[in-house]
Amino acid sequence: MAEADKQRIAGVFDRAAPMYEQTGVAFFDPLGAALATHAGLRPGERILDVGCGRGASLIPAAEAVGPSGAAIGIDLAVGMVEATAAEARRRGLAHLHVQVGDAEAPDFPDASFDAVLAGLVLFFLPDAPAAVRAYARLLRPGGRLVISTFTEVSDADKEWFEHFGQALGPYLPPPPEPVPGSPPPPDARLRTRESLVELLAGGGFSDVRFTEKAHRTVFARPEQFWDWLWSAGMRGMMESIPAQDHDDARAALTTLVAERLRSDDGTLGWATTIRLTTARRP
Ligand SMILES: C[S@@+](CC[C@H](N)C(=O)[O-])C[C@H]1O[C@@H](n2cnc3c(N)ncnc32)[C@H](O)[C@@H]1O
Repeated sequence: MAEADKQRIAGVFDRAAPMYEQTGVAFFDPLGAALATHAGLRPGERILDVGCGRGASLIPAAEAVGPSGAAIGIDLAVGMVEATAAEARRRGLAHLHVQVGDAEAPDFPDASFDAVLAGLVLFFLPDAPAAVRAYARLLRPGGRLVISTFTEVSDADKEWFEHFGQALGPYLPPPPEPVPGSPPPPDARLRTRESLVELLAGGGFSDVRFTEKAHRTVFARPEQFWDWLWSAGMRGMMESIPAQDHDDARAALTTLVAERLRSDDGTLGWATTIRLTTARRP
């Protein structure tokens, strides 16, 4: 089941890869750059970026460590790996290597990295504790793990998701009955500082530090929201809308965005906060 979940998620991101961060909406690139900056990378360091996507943090990390260092990315979605490799070639980043690999079981020698980065990916892994233990093994003593996750769901988030659910609900199949004992869905995992401390301590990490970073995702036009939802993880849900309902579902979302996401200054935006966490391998 865990393996099937992993492949299902990788399939969604593989199909999303051509559109990922390409719809004119800046989300993963600024947040990935913030993660790389937060890692405090120095020239000559070796870093591994797990679940690297299209290089939102891997590319700035490669620029920070420079040609005397190495930046290696792994992702389970082939489309992400191919797009990142093409971008690295375009930028002449010969010390950036990207390959297909499982963020839960990265296959590299022990103590071979100064830093491991994981941007908005740990909550997708069926066995995050095993992944974190693997990162500790891959880091040299004193090496750091730098991750990003979403923060607690705010009252404003709850209100937005309620309206979102009402707009899209008529076009979605009924949600499956919850199976007792099954893990929470990815978007509900690792949202608290306590859950991260527990995860990281269980992997043998110490010196856990947090910073929260707010981001406003800006939409130039309300119609952009539909494309943006198809371009990343939400695509998994969007694919369950029957094709004959796409026009109506798009119209419902466009109305919702125009009505609910407009600020006083007239721009359309959705506020989110991510948590940047660093931890050290003793
Ligand atoms: C939300 S995206 C984040 C990508 C990138 N870190 C960024 O910040 O743009 C999650 C990424 O994790 C990848 N992913 C999901 N499960 C994975 C796994 N088990 N192993 C490797 N990559 C995985 C997906 O294919 C996707 O590229």
